[in-house]
Amino acid sequence: MPTAFITGITGQDGSYLAELLLSKGYTVYGLIRRSSTFNTARISHLYQDPHDADYRLRLVYGDMTDGARLHALLAEIKPDEIYNLAAQAHVKVSFETPESTGDIDALGVTRLLESVREVCPKARFYQAGSSEMFGSSPAPQNEDTPMLPRSPYAIAKLYAHHMTRNYREAYGMYAVSGILFNHESPRRGATFVTRKITRAVAAIKAGAQDKLYLGNLDARRDWGFAPEYVEGMWRMLQAATPRDYVLATGEVHSVREFAQRAFARAGLDWQKHIEIDPRYLRPTEVDVLQGDAARAEHDLDWKAATRFEQLVDLMVDADLHAQQHGRGEFEAVGRHF
Ligand code: GDD
Repeated sequence: MPTAFITGITGQDGSYLAELLLSKGYTVYGLIRRSSTFNTARISHLYQDPHDADYRLRLVYGDMTDGARLHALLAEIKPDEIYNLAAQAHVKVSFETPESTGDIDALGVTRLLESVREVCPKARFYQAGSSEMFGSSPAPQNEDTPMLPRSPYAIAKLYAHHMTRNYREAYGMYAVSGILFNHESPRRGATFVTRKITRAVAAIKAGAQDKLYLGNLDARRDWGFAPEYVEGMWRMLQAATPRDYVLATGEVHSVREFAQRAFARAGLDWQKHIEIDPRYLRPTEVDVLQGDAARAEHDLDWKAATRFEQLVDLMVDADLHAQQHGRGEFEAVGRHF
């Protein structure tokens, strides 16, 4: 059975991808960063004892800023597939930390690609690109849309996107960049707007909170359901020819609409609880992201299934459940979500 190496395995996508690959029989190596607090809550339900006969989830320490370590790991593991999901993934935070964001999200990819080229050039490489790269380019956006990034995060991702393509063209490597539009779930980090809203709805419903402070309610996004998107990543690496693909639902909604629906799901009036705080505004904003995933549908038979309303409802329901049962952030949503 194949072996995969996932950077960013502790994130939302990393945890869903690890589940998918383990269910397909892969051995999965996941890169984690050393921290004095646990950072593996999203994969704790997948944890295996190293003494298990079927020990297939293997966590290894390392960091995208440490090229020597990445090189040594790839030389040892010799993976068949590599999924680079590690990133400083928060757009607003990237304005405050542009240098480290570039180090991890841009140069980190070069470190990895160089190591792949040297020690396992036949491995298939997936780079987590982002719809943020389109920036101010008019919607709808597809693989041929010009990219006009609007944040240090998006600029770092665009460097990585071009680097991935360059390794494909220069060295004939199977290296692809997935241009994924926003994808959410109950495992979404709590500072991204969807989860920030659904967690607040649950806390307000329980009487533990009254106000929710947000930034730009007019921003519009194409929000899909994350488990479907990791399936798309895997399909990109199974294709006969390496190509970059957009994954998106094609449907667009504002932050305001997300909040309205989320509060209504819990029987609350959003206008009584939401206040605008300029601290959450970005110096340069991306107003509209709406993807056209026709190429993925044609080549990979991939299509987003979960629609906006279902997505909002399932996220609110998961947070209401977690709030009511007093569980940890991800425990209540364990294997199912
Ligand atoms: N985070 C946040 N917090 N965003 C807010 C808030 C708030 O309080 N209020 C309004 N927003 C708006 C942001 O200005 C943005 O326009 C929109 O909500 C979505 O913000 P995020 O959920 O933080 O996601 P993002 O679109 O900036 O970036 C996400 O999607 C990208 C793919 O397009 C991240 O997951 C990126 O890593 C990913 O590449």
